[in-house]
Amino acid sequence: MVFMKRERVKELLAGHATGEKVLVKGWVRTKREIKNVAFVALNDGSTINNIQIVIDINAFPADLLRDITTGASLAVTGTLVSSQGKGQSVEITASEVTLHGKCDPETYPLQKKGHSMEFLREIAHLRFRTNTFGAVIRIRHAMSFAVHKYFNDRGFYYLHTPIITGSDAEGAGEMFHVTTLDLENIPRTREGEVDYERDFFGKPTNLTVSGQLEGELGALALGEIYTFGPTFRAENSNTPRHLAEFWMIEPEMAFWDITDNMDLGEDFTKYLIRYALDNCREDLEFLNKMIDNALIERLEFVLANSYMRLTYTEAVEILEKASRKWEYPVGWGRDLQAEHERYLVETHFKRPVILTDYPMSIKAFYMKQNDDGKTVRAMDVLFPGIGEIIGGSQREEDLDKLTGRIEELGLPLKDLWWYLDTRKFGTAPHSGFGLGFERLILFMTGMSNIRDVIPFPRTPRNAGF
Ligand code: 4AD
Ligand code: MG
Repeated sequence: MVFMKRERVKELLAGHATGEKVLVKGWVRTKREIKNVAFVALNDGSTINNIQIVIDINAFPADLLRDITTGASLAVTGTLVSSQGKGQSVEITASEVTLHGKCDPETYPLQKKGHSMEFLREIAHLRFRTNTFGAVIRIRHAMSFAVHKYFNDRGFYYLHTPIITGSDAEGAGEMFHVTTLDLENIPRTREGEVDYERDFFGKPTNLTVSGQLEGELGALALGEIYTFGPTFRAENSNTPRHLAEFWMIEPEMAFWDITDNMDLGEDFTKYLIRYALDNCREDLEFLNKMIDNALIERLEFVLANSYMRLTYTEAVEILEKASRKWEYPVGWGRDLQAEHERYLVETHFKRPVILTDYPMSIKAFYMKQNDDGKTVRAMDVLFPGIGEIIGGSQREEDLDKLTGRIEELGLPLKDLWWYLDTRKFGTAPHSGFGLGFERLILFMTGMSNIRDVIPFPRTPRNAGF
């Protein structure tokens, strides 16, 4: 037998020469029989589009044809020809068909009719086979690649920060403990406390809520770095915007101030949108048709407009004047909720917004203190349909101010000795931010629940698959 290379459906549809013999492998989406011909739509995951396989019913065994049902896996050899039918430019006239795996139509949960997102979450192991999840996963891949390309092209180094950490310092949220202690039989000290001396690391440890603190150590030697990894928050927030395990991109730059940081946040998100429009067109068009009719328009709109920049204080004034009944009260010193953020973006300014200079009391200890003694040099980027997509700041580089703030908040100063050393030895102004990767993918795909833009979502009481 002559060896044949398997072709990707994407390449065949993109203008491969007709008249040639080709081999494709994939999963059956649909089969129709008209007179003596079976038309099979085959998908191999390389594109949202299927390739049509034309099978002469008289030339193949009846039991093979019977087993070609939705979900079955096939290898097909045949001639690529231009198609007479509507909806496709080329199709394959089959000469050989091998069935790799049958798929029992009685028990296969994915039927041709549309399924609800809730139902698909219950069969998350199979939902990749739907058009919607294929599109989302391909876009997620393209965005990961674009993140690395963006930073690599600009001289940033990819820094791998730890997933297991021993400091409880970020204050970003509740943490998951990491332990090898036997929970049925916890060793205790004489005082009756948990004896972490006998735990794996000899001290309490947890899953990281952010790579920032370690990222700063890298930036203060390498100049510009970024992290891109999983982060964990054990908050009990059951919202369409929160996951217990999510991916975050955290650039950190020595000698950059808050304005440089805002410029980067705007340029970076616009680059990612442009990349998706240029490289994920078919998937975006599919999602625009099936999930959110305003998707592409919204992406193009964000690209075309500069982000509105204002202070938290100015934003609160706008919100106080708004004729709206808020679920959560508005007032200087209170944190903004999604409803407030979305009002600013979607109703008031009608474009992305960057808010700066938040009250010190509602932000993390490491943010650079402003001269007013009340606010810090924070920046949050707010997006339409999402609310906060980026959170960041210029960092406090002054050792005394930083130490003072840590003590004020009652944080464990001695655990942070390594962090404070950067302020002792050659400190420098620096800035950075965190972009929530799944919030970005929500924006890029028009999907409405964050559980549907990550392959295997982790949320309260849900760690299946
Ligand atoms: O605003 P956050 O908490 O900032 C930090 O963690 C900083 N250390 C980042 C930095 O300056 N290097 O989180 C950053 C972003 C948020 O804007 C949001 O997009 C996302 O991470 N995020 C979440 N995404 C999904 N589920 C959650 N539970 C999230 N919490 C934060
Ligand atoms: Mg935040």
